[in-house]
Amino acid sequence: MQNPRAETGDGLRPGNSGKLIEPVPMGDSTEPVPEIGLEAAYAAKTPSGNKTLYEDWAPTYESGFIEYMGYVYHRTVADLFVVHQGEVKGEVLDVGCGTGIVGVELRRLDIEPIDGIDISPAMLSNAAAKTNADGEAAYRHLIAADLMQPLDIADDTYSGVISAGTFTHGHVGPEAFDEMLRVARTGATFALGINAEHFVERGFDAKFASLVAAGVITEPDLIDIAIYEPDHAANVEGDHFDDRALVAIFRKLAGAAPV
Ligand SMILES: C[S@@+](CC[C@H](N)C(=O)[O-])C[C@H]1O[C@@H](n2cnc3c(N)ncnc32)[C@H](O)[C@@H]1O
Repeated sequence: MQNPRAETGDGLRPGNSGKLIEPVPMGDSTEPVPEIGLEAAYAAKTPSGNKTLYEDWAPTYESGFIEYMGYVYHRTVADLFVVHQGEVKGEVLDVGCGTGIVGVELRRLDIEPIDGIDISPAMLSNAAAKTNADGEAAYRHLIAADLMQPLDIADDTYSGVISAGTFTHGHVGPEAFDEMLRVARTGATFALGINAEHFVERGFDAKFASLVAAGVITEPDLIDIAIYEPDHAANVEGDHFDDRALVAIFRKLAGAAPV
C-alpha cells in the first residue's frame, strides 16, 4: 500500500528530512561502570520505557557498555550486510541506530548514504556526531520515531536495512517488520541481528514463515554470532558474556504482505 504522507525526494517526510539532532557530550572512558546496563535494558517493557532508559543511558552507553563488554555485534552485522549486499546498492536504513556505531562501521566499508532511526533523541544526538574517516557525518538523516508505530517514510525508499541490538528482550519484536518491509525496495538486502533468546520468545520464526509463504521475502539465512568478544566479556561482571544473536539475512520480494 502506498504511504499517503507527503514526502521529500529521498522518501522522508519534510518534518523528518534533515532532522539531525545536536550532539551531546559523550561519556568519559575513565568513569566507573554506570548502574544502567543490560539488566535495566532487558527489564524495559514498552517503547516509552525504552525511551526513558536510553535517554538516561546515552552519555555512558559506549564507555560503560560497548567498551566495557567488548561488544562486537555492530561490526559483525555490518560485515555480514556488505558480504550479502551484492550489486544492490543505495540508501540504507539503520534500525535502532542508537549512538551510531553501526553507521560508523558501514562508512568504514564505504556504504552510504545511511539513515538512522531510533526512539531516543539523546542516543540520536550521539549518532549525529559520528563521522567517517574524512570527517563527514556518518548518517544522512536521523529520525526520532517508534518502530512499533507507522513510520513517516515513503514506500520503497531503502535498498538495505540493517540492525544490531534492537531486536532484543523488552525492545522491538517482529511487529516492526511490516513497516521495515514497506519502506524497503523490492530486492533490498536485510541484515537484522536478533537476540537468540528473544528470537524464540517473541515468535520471529512464525513471522519469517508467514512472510516467506506469502512471497514477501526470501527464506532467511540465520547466522549465529557472538554479541560480545568472548575473551573480553568473560572478564567483566554479569551473566551475558556468551550471549548470542541470529543475524537474519534475506531480500524483499515483490509479494504482498500477509494480512
Ligand atoms: C541496545 S541499543 C542498540 C543501538 C545500536 N544499534 C548498537 O548496536 O549499539 C537498542 C536501541 O534500540 C532503540 N529502541 C528501543 N525500542 C525502540 C523502539 N520502539 N523504536 C525505536 N527505537 C527503539 C533504543 O533507543 C536503543 O538506541
